[in-house]
Amino acid sequence: MTQPYSSILVTGGAGFIGGNFVRLLLERAPTVRIVNLDALTYAGNLASITDCLANPRHSFVRGSITNSELVAHLLKLHAVDGIIHFAAESHVDRSITGPRVFVDTNVMGTLTLLQEARIAGVRRFLQVSTDEVYGSLGADGSFREDTPLAPNSPYSASKTAADHLVHAFHHTYGLDTVITRCSNNYGPYQFPEKMIPLMIRNALRDQPLPVYGDGLHVRDWLHVLDHCRAIWRVFSAGRAGEIYNIGGNSEKTNLDVVKTILGILGKPESLIRFVKDRPGHDRRYAIDAGKIRRELGWVPEVAFAAGITDTVAWYLKNQAWLDQVASGDYQHYYERMYAQRGAAAPVA
Ligand code: NAD
Ligand code: DAU
Repeated sequence: MTQPYSSILVTGGAGFIGGNFVRLLLERAPTVRIVNLDALTYAGNLASITDCLANPRHSFVRGSITNSELVAHLLKLHAVDGIIHFAAESHVDRSITGPRVFVDTNVMGTLTLLQEARIAGVRRFLQVSTDEVYGSLGADGSFREDTPLAPNSPYSASKTAADHLVHAFHHTYGLDTVITRCSNNYGPYQFPEKMIPLMIRNALRDQPLPVYGDGLHVRDWLHVLDHCRAIWRVFSAGRAGEIYNIGGNSEKTNLDVVKTILGILGKPESLIRFVKDRPGHDRRYAIDAGKIRRELGWVPEVAFAAGITDTVAWYLKNQAWLDQVASGDYQHYYERMYAQRGAAAPVA
């Protein structure tokens, strides 16, 4: 039997998925110590992990994954034996208006971690990737692990480049790596630039809900805790060098999701505004998660209907968190981004 991991470097653990993962791991793996490295960009927030900060098995470090000296120092200081890499610039719309930081963080940051992991002799490196590396689907079919890579946005191009580097470090240097590619996540603590929390926040304020294009783009929604459980499963038991797709088998059009949110909140559909489409907008994503189910026994536990109802309730209950992360820079971002699309701007 393989030795359990004792000290794991989690990158991006103050973001949406990373923060949920840190909380889950502290509960599920009572002997594991976590070093959480996060630069606290606009998307990272300690308010998302306040309950984890006092845990003696969790050490938070503010810093960038592109800083090789810092990464090397942390790997040595904490005798890190595993890395789970979430940190990224993650928003497609921002990658369209400013792609450079996506290459700096997602490509160069991943390269830095891989190099230092190799030097330090880390036992396993898990790359949290995305289904967007596969591009866009037509009306039928779903992404498998052997679907050709065809990224369309600067965001997905940078994630694809990072995935190639992870593969190269496995193939060339024998580093033990695994890659997970997941569909769209929803749940608590998601930054309100992403569709679901943005629509909930606007609906709560009786502000217009900006739906891109015809609203018939399809995403395969997965609750964030299901994603976190899958990542831990792949990290613990996945085969070295392999890729595992993760998905919710829950395809919805954006318009359906928006109408569902309005229905839960008891708000009128007249709040919906069709606005200028995202350039290069991928039409449809759908995941074939057969490999992770067959090999590792993972299946999603949260059905979308229950998950979205709980999620709306969470944002209603945590409006202070929402207001805190949506203050300052978010206001300028919203005005800039949504004025370009011809949507009403007020978000205060
Ligand atoms: P997020 O934007 O909410 O969080 C990203 C975190 O990374 C933030 O805390 C930020 O401060 C940190 N970060 C950014 N640059 C950094 C740097 N240079 N050094 C250290 N930390 C840095 O993102 P998320 O939605 O939680 O996504 C996490 C990962 O999951 C990403 O790699 C993303 O590509 C992937 N992913 C996301 C989804 C989704 O639906 N959100 C789906 C599939 C895969
Ligand atoms: O598929 C996985 C990806 O899912 C992750 O890799 C990304 O990090 C994550 O951001 C997400 O990307 P999307 O672009 O699909 O997510 P987003 O929430 O930005 O948009 C979801 C859909 O909603 C998409 O079709 C665009 C649409 N949309 C989005 C916003 C912000 C709108 O119609 N209006 C909006 O205001």
